[in-house]
Amino acid sequence: MYRYFLQPLFFLLDAEKAHYAVFNLLKILFRIPLVASVFRKSYHFSHPKLEREVFGIRFPNPVGLAAGFDKNGVLVRELADLGFGFIEIGTITPLPQAGNPKPRLFRLKPDKALINRMGFNNDGAVAVAQRLRRIQNSEFRIQNFIIGGNIGKNKATPNEDAAKDYETCFETLFEVVDYFVVNVSSPNTPNLRELQEKEPLTNLLLALQARNQAKPKPKPILLKIAPDLTNGQLDDIIVIVRQTLIAGVVATNTTIGRDGLQTNAATVAAAGAGGLSGAPLRQRATEVIGYLHQKSGGAFPIIGVGGINSPDDALEKLRAGAALVQLYTGFVYEGPGIAGRINREIVKNNA
Ligand code: FNR
Repeated sequence: MYRYFLQPLFFLLDAEKAHYAVFNLLKILFRIPLVASVFRKSYHFSHPKLEREVFGIRFPNPVGLAAGFDKNGVLVRELADLGFGFIEIGTITPLPQAGNPKPRLFRLKPDKALINRMGFNNDGAVAVAQRLRRIQNSEFRIQNFIIGGNIGKNKATPNEDAAKDYETCFETLFEVVDYFVVNVSSPNTPNLRELQEKEPLTNLLLALQARNQAKPKPKPILLKIAPDLTNGQLDDIIVIVRQTLIAGVVATNTTIGRDGLQTNAATVAAAGAGGLSGAPLRQRATEVIGYLHQKSGGAFPIIGVGGINSPDDALEKLRAGAALVQLYTGFVYEGPGIAGRINREIVKNNA
């Protein structure tokens, strides 16, 4: 139904407008009595074999929605009903910001891919924390659904002061998320990816860990990395995880690469700068997961993300060493049934 009816309709709209159309449609549908339970019955698949404990958290299933889809935590309850085991909100910055000028999101249909240069458009940490607190004070918590908080810095904050922005987000969101992801890998905030260098990254993670360890119950902090890192840089990441004792790595964010695309070159060029996600990213993201897992001897959990469009793609990431998986672009192209379909195959394959 989605692929043959709804997706072609949504794809008539500009990509960002379609995103909000889906958002609003889900919000409206879920207000109609019984719709949530119909969605839940159709899309949600639970099974004891899907449950797993990763970095001290019990996940109802290992398939999550990646950061960027619900940046402001507006739709977490509805997304849980579509079968995701966890959702990563954000990237959230301390102050609200509008992001880059539009258009800033483009479809490469022949590649089942997207290019985006959103630039961390979000409501800011205080507003998002208030929203999540409201949801958690309702009946939502009962569902045992896991929320990750992906945090970043405001565009106007220079890299020298970046740690303060991450610390502000960490403190503001601490009570309302289950784990944190430090995003230093978006290509759409100028110079952000320089924070992936060994020294600034170690200092940033140590500053966050100091705050974390001062809490009565610290929360897992993970690092999200780019697929464009060299093997040498991935070796550094392994050392940094060990030194800072963070809980794990999210691999990967979007790529700045444009290799091997089917979409015609003029369309790709017209989209311009930004991060490429979806099917063309699949192989590289899996390589990064495999490399980190093998080189570290499985020393830390990895959330595998990048180009998951089918159950087989998810199984590939799990077999490469991912403890959990996430997707974003696959949700846009394959529709709301994708989490349930992946979960069924995971059970079938004992993955
Ligand atoms: C993203 N992604 C992303 N990641 C992140 O850490 N913070 C963010 O704010 C965003 N925003 C964002 C917006 C859009 C429009 C897209 C398509 C992606 C990256 C996302 O979480 C994921 O890492 C990549 O998209 C790769 O996964 P998929 O999309 O190939 O499944």
